[in-house]
Amino acid sequence: MENMITQENEFLQENLVEANLLYEGKGKKLYKTTLDNTLLAAFKDDLTAFNAQKRSSEEGKGSLNCQISTQIFMLLESRDVKTHFIQTLQDKYMLCKKLEIIPIEVVVRNIATGSLSKRLGIAESLNIKETLLGAPLVEFYYKDDSLNDPIITDSHCLLMGLANIHEIEKLKELALQVNEILKEYFDKASLRLIDFKLEFGRDFSGNILLADEISPDSCRLWDKTTNKKMDKDIFRQNLGNVTNAYKEVLSRLAEIK
Ligand SMILES: Nc1ncnc2c1ncn2[C@@H]1O[C@H](COP(=O)(O)OP(=O)(O)O)[C@@H](O)[C@H]1O
Ligand SMILES: [Mg+2]
Repeated sequence: MENMITQENEFLQENLVEANLLYEGKGKKLYKTTLDNTLLAAFKDDLTAFNAQKRSSEEGKGSLNCQISTQIFMLLESRDVKTHFIQTLQDKYMLCKKLEIIPIEVVVRNIATGSLSKRLGIAESLNIKETLLGAPLVEFYYKDDSLNDPIITDSHCLLMGLANIHEIEKLKELALQVNEILKEYFDKASLRLIDFKLEFGRDFSGNILLADEISPDSCRLWDKTTNKKMDKDIFRQNLGNVTNAYKEVLSRLAEIK
């Protein structure tokens, strides 16, 4: 399916119309397209945090996230991780396989910070050694804004019918595999992958594919030498504007050989 659309302008003009809008989320608008089993995700410039209680917008943010996600999905595909990615159009739109999203946010943590530190009283420290987990931690959160995305266990997933036992194991295995690939990748860009959130979905044959986006909105990335935050925590913690940091992330990734 790669590089299937050559007339990007025409395709976007035809598909990015109100009548095709299926869903508007916090970070993306999803459009149905003229191609079977596909979606067009338009990355928004809006910034939200704390379940959209804090909001802002920065011009160019959506495009940067789309481009960074593109780099990552292409890398993962090259390493045999199956994703929903088909093609990126004009740096801001992603043509994806349409999936049935599993409403579980899969979080992988290499260093304790954020809600983990808060919940368990682990100090949030810039001294990475103090907050390093012994091994990567995989957590599940129920993807439901009205409930504030609560943390859940495997048993809750089964009880609520969110995924079966084989799928739960697969989600954990894939999340750890992605973590290993991305830790090494970001390291080459002098970035430390602190933690990140993944979403998965089922295709029409029931295969589990990685979906949504992987961007500085969904990852914590700290500069390897200065520990400077290069992700959405800049917005959460009022540390300045995010687009400069996201630009820096994209340009560092683009320089990786
Ligand atoms: N390949 C896909 N097929 C169907 N839905 C998807 C796919 N990838 C992502 N989504 C869904 O797109 C929606 C819009 O994304 P986003 O704006 O980030 O939503 P949210 O407000 O839930 O964070 C989310 O519900 C996400 O689960
Ligand atoms: Mg989202």
